[in-house]
Amino acid sequence: MRIPDEFIEELRQRNDIESVISSYVNLKRRGSNLVGLCPFHNEKTPSFTVYPSSNSYYCFGCGAGGDPITFIRGVENLDYIDAIKFLADRSGMRMPETGYDDSMQKLRMKVYEINRAAARFFHEQLKTESGKKGLAYFKSRELSAATIKHFGLGYAPDSWDSLYKHLRKLGYSDDLIFASDLISKRKSGNGYFDRFRDRVMFPIIDLRGNVIAFGGRRLSEDKTVAKYINSSDTPVYKKSTVLYAMNYAKNSKNKGIILAEGYMDVIALHQAGFDNAVAACGTAFTQEQARLLSRYTDEIIVTLDADEAGQKATNRTIEILKSTGIKIRVLRITDAKDPDEFIKKFGNEKFRMLIEGANNDIEYKLMAAKSKFDLSTDDGKLSALKQAAQILANTDDSIARDLYTGRIADEFGVSKDVLTRQISTIYKSRVSNEKKQHIEKEIKRASSSDRVNPERKYNTRTAIAEETIISLLMSDPSLYEYVNERIKPSDFLTRFNSRVFEYLIELLKNQKMPDISLFSAEFAPDEMGKIVEMLNKKVSLDAGREQIDDCVKVIFSDKKLKEATENDNEENWAETIKKITDIKRGSKK
Ligand code: CTP
Ligand code: MN
Repeated sequence: MRIPDEFIEELRQRNDIESVISSYVNLKRRGSNLVGLCPFHNEKTPSFTVYPSSNSYYCFGCGAGGDPITFIRGVENLDYIDAIKFLADRSGMRMPETGYDDSMQKLRMKVYEINRAAARFFHEQLKTESGKKGLAYFKSRELSAATIKHFGLGYAPDSWDSLYKHLRKLGYSDDLIFASDLISKRKSGNGYFDRFRDRVMFPIIDLRGNVIAFGGRRLSEDKTVAKYINSSDTPVYKKSTVLYAMNYAKNSKNKGIILAEGYMDVIALHQAGFDNAVAACGTAFTQEQARLLSRYTDEIIVTLDADEAGQKATNRTIEILKSTGIKIRVLRITDAKDPDEFIKKFGNEKFRMLIEGANNDIEYKLMAAKSKFDLSTDDGKLSALKQAAQILANTDDSIARDLYTGRIADEFGVSKDVLTRQISTIYKSRVSNEKKQHIEKEIKRASSSDRVNPERKYNTRTAIAEETIISLLMSDPSLYEYVNERIKPSDFLTRFNSRVFEYLIELLKNQKMPDISLFSAEFAPDEMGKIVEMLNKKVSLDAGREQIDDCVKVIFSDKKLKEATENDNEENWAETIKKITDIKRGSKK
């Protein structure tokens, strides 16, 4: 059972590729297509192309491609049905009854329910005798009752199974509770115990308001237990894609988004009126999180801890954010270890001033480099200057490069020309290195297309012929009968192409246009990339039939060749050679 094609067709009409993608990617028109920075890999020059005419996209950098449904699957991390639901919601359509296997979706709904029940349970604990210490902890961190409620904070009791028992009483099975990652299996093999014990609890909430995971902080400063425990990935949670408090920050009236380090910083910032603060939840900042941010804001204010680890994290974070092209500023916190402490010590107003005066990322890095060396000595100056040159050479913005080169030259009393030359040498070698890497990536991409169609590598000539037939047929469905009389899917040598061809023939037989959206029901996202490549391949339709003839000839001759060699063994070896020579001679005629 599957979603009716008519529904997919309407979905397609209401969600054209350009409008779907442009809410995620900044697209620029190039001829009849549009281009932008690929949301599926890290790149600085756009190789992500949107084809309104075939309602598809393809990235020449990483090979990702498909229709609007494939796009939503990738960017929102959804399966096929959920991506369709997402698009249906977006365009005000009602999902048809399908009888489709929606067990994964059902599991997810249950996990949401369990998480919500757990969050409620933890929150209620704050009002109980045993939970008093949780409440006391939040009070000691100066959180108001309103803040505790706003974030749904709670306390996990100092017990092995109180949450587990509670959830069982509500009727949830062991398997479901386990899938929510709220309990662990006992080592002995039977029974479960609570994962979060004697901890203050931070529920993590997605953009639609579902509780998707938890972070739990120990109450004591006892170093023998982990300071934080975080939910692992579950059917509803992929931590590398989530930002804590994004559900609130996305609606903030403040300018930009503040990226802080942890739960407590974020909460303290919100309480102080900076309700545009978010944080990664117990992971290093990721590319996916950067993309999420870039969808909601054009300016990021990074404010991580002031210690060395925090500075390293800041540098890494800046590098990741750079790929999104949004404006980056960095808050340098002095006289406090983190934003939470800073606000407590100096107040909201001072923090606001800090934000207003925050440096851009280049200034931040130059300042950090200078502060590392003793500038009263020549040695120190020289080292700082070298690092500054390196930092500026890493900047792609030529105006910024020139501006700061001038400033640094003035500051250190060296000639701007000399410094400029030095920087330009480093810059050029960096750019040429990046080009090399780009080429390596291209090679990798080619091998990823081998993964979709593993036999292609050993049958390149046939595969190209097969792909040409598919491309021709997609561009000109009127060739259907001509093709159908000459070749069948089972004649195709490579399995993937054969599947695509079979599906295409089936569509045409039923008088359906070979629309890319009809493929996404049947093919996985990485396969869709390959299909879109065939779909958008420029084929000359002038001599469609002749081209088909040529391709068919190639496929059959390769097929015979293959069959001949497959039968070979010691006895009929001579015969095989004879066959092959015959075939080769025949195909040359
Ligand atoms: N973190 C973690 N595991 C740890 C330490 C930290 O997952 N053992 C994550 C948490 O998401 C935490 C963030 O890293 O929020 C920042 O760590 P830290 O600065 O130690 O925590 P804070 O949230 O600032 O908490 P506190 O102010 O109570 O120290
Ligand atoms: Mn901290």
